[in-house]
Amino acid sequence: MSYKTIRRQVISSAIASTISSAWLGIDSAHAAEDSLSAKFSRNKLYFGSAVRIEQVMAEQDLRAVVLRECDCLTPEVALKWDAVEASPGAFDFRSMDGLTNFALANKKQLHGHTLLWHKSIPHWAASSLVEKGGWTLVQRYFQAVLSRYGHAIAQWDVVNEPIETGHRMDGLRNSPFLQAFGVDYIARALWEARQLAPQAKLMINEFGLEYDLRVEHDRRYLFLKLLERLKHAGVPLDGVGLQAHLDLSKGVLPADVLGRFLKDIADLGLFIVISELDVKEYEYVLPVVQRDARVADETRRYLDVALGQPAVRGVTTWGLSDRHSWLRVTKDDFARYPDAWKDGSSPGVNRGLPFDYSFKPKPMYRAIAEADLRRR
Ligand code: G3I
Repeated sequence: MSYKTIRRQVISSAIASTISSAWLGIDSAHAAEDSLSAKFSRNKLYFGSAVRIEQVMAEQDLRAVVLRECDCLTPEVALKWDAVEASPGAFDFRSMDGLTNFALANKKQLHGHTLLWHKSIPHWAASSLVEKGGWTLVQRYFQAVLSRYGHAIAQWDVVNEPIETGHRMDGLRNSPFLQAFGVDYIARALWEARQLAPQAKLMINEFGLEYDLRVEHDRRYLFLKLLERLKHAGVPLDGVGLQAHLDLSKGVLPADVLGRFLKDIADLGLFIVISELDVKEYEYVLPVVQRDARVADETRRYLDVALGQPAVRGVTTWGLSDRHSWLRVTKDDFARYPDAWKDGSSPGVNRGLPFDYSFKPKPMYRAIAEADLRRR
């Protein structure tokens, strides 16, 4: 069955909202005792993954792992502004409705990713934002999304990736939002979301905060200053998402620095979620066993620190299997490692997620499963 057929099927069934139980996986295996879902929830944590409902519906092996291992699902694309409002005022929620139906039917939490992100502004909106009254476009979009999913989604990435070093003293990204509405766009978005979804937990999600690099030291400092300003101004901010796109080319993870950084965030009264965990590798010519061991070791090092901080509530990987990873063997990688495709089991993909191409659990899965969750 082609992907397009599946997508049509998902969309039509989402509209009819009469997805059969088989589609929703209601008759699926419940979380096995030794699943990540069981281990994490026993310790008042959650484990989750970014998903696309079309893939979950089309791929039985993916669906089974999602149902068994995950407590919380993040829409990889379906809830972004350019996905729901491709044309002004014409909202298309079919994909997100499909995921919401699936999550509710299978008692999974949903993480609302993401409202304002400079990379998911609809093409028609970017120029209109800077026009007089541009904020009404943001309000209409927030109103449409938060009124529709406020009941099903408890925590939201209201602003994604607001930090960018090397431009402004305050480290704020010179995004179309900042250009249109000034530095207060972040506070304004959080107040807007609080008003539209008073019960929801409001978050800011950020990347590039893990390594002992000058730029990442700067990013941690500037991000913390932003959080402090917002909290001291009484802006409604409840939590933070640390994306944790780990990268084996970035050197040693500074455990002490990371531990202090997480504590500084927690000391502001904010909860923390590890929101997009995966590992970028580069040594594609190494034997798969070695590649997988390096990915698992980096995962273990990071989670040892992160899960030692009581303010951390959950871990979400940015996908479950290398089959769907956004991380690809890039042209640069290929130039540097011409034999990148020697590894037949996952041609041309990065092995930075818990399961391989065929959903066989890898050492990264074990690194997550064996993380010390007791220090809660
Ligand atoms: O669905 C359309 C398809 O109809 C069209 O033919 C095709 C060609 O343009 O594009 C398809 O949309 C793509 C979408 O993924 C679904 O495949 C978009 O172009 C593409 O930009 C989008 O990429 C996603 C990206 O965010 C932008 O939304 C990635 O899958 C997703 O993994 C990535 O996730 C981000 C987080 O949201 C934020 N943190 C970083 C992370 C990785 O970049």
